[in-house]
Amino acid sequence: MTSTFNTTKPQSPRRKLFIKTYGCQMNVYDSGRMADVLAPHGFETTDTPTDADMVILNTCHIREKASEKVFSELGRLKPLKEARNSNGHDMTIAVAGCVAQAEGAEITARAPFVDIVLGPQTYHRLPELVARADRKSGAVVDTEFPAEPKFDFLPAPRAEGPAAFVSVQEGCDKFCTFCVVPYTRGAEYSRPTADVLREARGLVAGGVREITLLGQNVNAYHGQGPGSAAWGLGRLIRALAEIDGLVRIRYTTSHPRDMDEELITAHRDVPQLMPFLHLPVQSGSDRILAEMNRGHTRDDYRRTIERLRANRADLALSSDFIVGFPGESERDFRDTMDLIAETTFAQAFSFKYSKRPGTPGAALKNQVPEDVKSERLTELQRVLLQQQTDFNAACMGRVMDVLLTGPGRHAGQMASRSPYLQPVHVNAPRSMVGQIVAARITSLESNSLGADLADAQAA
Ligand code: 5AD
Ligand code: SF4
Repeated sequence: MTSTFNTTKPQSPRRKLFIKTYGCQMNVYDSGRMADVLAPHGFETTDTPTDADMVILNTCHIREKASEKVFSELGRLKPLKEARNSNGHDMTIAVAGCVAQAEGAEITARAPFVDIVLGPQTYHRLPELVARADRKSGAVVDTEFPAEPKFDFLPAPRAEGPAAFVSVQEGCDKFCTFCVVPYTRGAEYSRPTADVLREARGLVAGGVREITLLGQNVNAYHGQGPGSAAWGLGRLIRALAEIDGLVRIRYTTSHPRDMDEELITAHRDVPQLMPFLHLPVQSGSDRILAEMNRGHTRDDYRRTIERLRANRADLALSSDFIVGFPGESERDFRDTMDLIAETTFAQAFSFKYSKRPGTPGAALKNQVPEDVKSERLTELQRVLLQQQTDFNAACMGRVMDVLLTGPGRHAGQMASRSPYLQPVHVNAPRSMVGQIVAARITSLESNSLGADLADAQAA
């Protein structure tokens, strides 16, 4: 792969790389890995596209009008590329991620100045794709689902700060009827346990204190263990907890169907596992859950939450909700509101259903009118926001351990995360970055908390 990277176009020894990331944490992780893959080939990242030799748009297909957003961004990049060309420079433009996977041909047809189109499963081949793009005119497209797992070809990630992501699982076989992920990310794949543990140990040796395990369906994890048997996520978390210096473990995003006993009891047995769980339910109506092909009922979800709370009493929850899935009646919507009222969430994401081409939901006849969706979303978000505000308000005056991640908004302040993933601005010196400290919550803002060092106050 490396040897093919002798480009024929004139270039400076270093090339500037600008990556714009859309969407989920998985994409943020992927963007970091793309930068890692290109770094040995002379690419260093820059914060602006203007002087970039290469621009990657790492796209997301989950949100509505995702591809339009990509095309308008490409429209903004076109004159930048032309300006660089007329100055004797070059700008390689790559479209990566899920929109690229879903709409490769459309992209090269509508935006012929795009040099590379690559899917989420082929970015380990980026150096080779760049070399091919440098040699030829016209776009190089690679949206295969290759047999070789990309993880085997990626360099070990470097620790950048005290919190890191480790991708352990990708893809999805569940085919919820509203979702594009099984089509864009492909079939479920779990990395072998030894690879995950090696990567985690390397990150911790580099100063990482908190690791979030990532996967589209992270708790469907079934990675090859040291023998022949596969390990579930609970077992993997228990093994990670053995790593000296790894103080916090999280995982996201989970599916209610895959919350097995070993994972649930890990919340009781593993103190490093943070008491915060993102567990999307999407709807509180059994009828809609069945239409969505979620494979669980409202009661299944309730029981799972009960078991989790029985194992970890202070567990705070987050979820995803979709309102206005085709056929959703007022009664179905009330079921969702009831579920929210009885469960209570510390945080949540909620969306109006929108059609994704190629998914079964898009073909359903009984689509809910836009104004009804909007009304329902407003009502649902009002309640969820109130629950979040109440949760944060209950933290006032409490002392909690926070991980100091970097400089805060103001001088003398550090940014940090609470166990419940709340952003906390702590009055603390910069020299304390990477430490976990006891902080006393002293103020509430709309999306964050303010705090002082608990020890400093006691002194
Ligand atoms: N319409 C609305 N929301 C969607 N999501 C996924 N697909 C759609 C869609 N077609 C939401 C789900 C999922 C989150 C990542 O995005 O709630 O959990
Ligand atoms: Fe999409 Fe459903 Fe798979 Fe989640 S479980 S990625 S919502 S198909």
